[in-house]
Amino acid sequence: MRGLENRIAVVTGAAGGIGRSICRRFIEEGVKILAIDVDSKSLDDLRSKLNVGEERLSTAVVDIADYGRVNEAVEKGAAHFGKLDILVNNAGWDVAKPFLETEPDLWDKIIAINLRGPLNLHKAVLPHLIAAGGGKVVNVASDAGRVGSSGESVYSACKGGLIAFSKTIARECARNNVRVNVVCPGPTDTALLRSFVGEGDYGQKIYDGLKRAIPLKRLGQPDDIPGLIAFLSSDDAGFITGQVVSVSGGLTMSG
Ligand SMILES: NC(=O)c1ccc[n+]([C@@H]2O[C@H](COP(=O)([O-])OP(=O)(O)OC[C@H]3O[C@@H](n4cnc5c(N)ncnc54)[C@H](O)[C@@H]3O)[C@@H](O)[C@H]2O)c1
Repeated sequence: MRGLENRIAVVTGAAGGIGRSICRRFIEEGVKILAIDVDSKSLDDLRSKLNVGEERLSTAVVDIADYGRVNEAVEKGAAHFGKLDILVNNAGWDVAKPFLETEPDLWDKIIAINLRGPLNLHKAVLPHLIAAGGGKVVNVASDAGRVGSSGESVYSACKGGLIAFSKTIARECARNNVRVNVVCPGPTDTALLRSFVGEGDYGQKIYDGLKRAIPLKRLGQPDDIPGLIAFLSSDDAGFITGQVVSVSGGLTMSG
């Protein structure tokens, strides 16, 4: 894709299912990465799997809900690479429960990771994109934020909030040549999805039911997501901003 070689990307949730695929694709495209995740062991594993040096991959163990630590890591990353060009807010977390069985402590945690976390990253990274003369933000929301998802009420509210926030930042930062778009995965086979559908026969039943409901008759794989993220981060998408695109095998066909 055009305009990706030697760009610098901040990727959150980099060590998870979809995050790893994004990092792998970015490295293939010549993008250098500041990989952020709260899970230090998985980050180490990502580093050894990608097998590239510090000049192409820098890692930071950070809870994205912690504004101070996010700022610190972003400043360190910007100093390490000399600038920042791309932000991919991919980290996310949830536990599946009907809303009436949830308590405010759980809401706070879900909001802190899925909504407050991306806000922290925007606040820390946008000034660097603007200083570089422009940049790209891709926010990984969810179809839960477009059409709802039973058992994911607060998560859906955060993802819907992230979509609305992205459109507003796309408007506010267009004059700075910063493009902001949203990618909404449908059910994608990662640890997050496995924890949502559950284990054993019951989990398998939900998994198979999802497969039947998806027009393309399979669940998403992590490698289904990065193509669109790379495209939206590239110069090929130079006239696209404020858009929301689902990668869901046709499960959702939002207008
Ligand atoms: N898998 C799906 O079916 C699906 C569907 C729709 C949207 N999504 C979204 O895709 C994104 C990636 O999810 P995934 O399926 O790869 O999940 P995953 O659990 O495999 O990966 C998520 C990663 O985020 C990291 N993370 C969690 N909380 C963090 C925090 N506070 N600070 C920093 N890192 C943190 C985890 O350590 C993990 O490495 C998420 O935003 C998720 O909401 C996933």
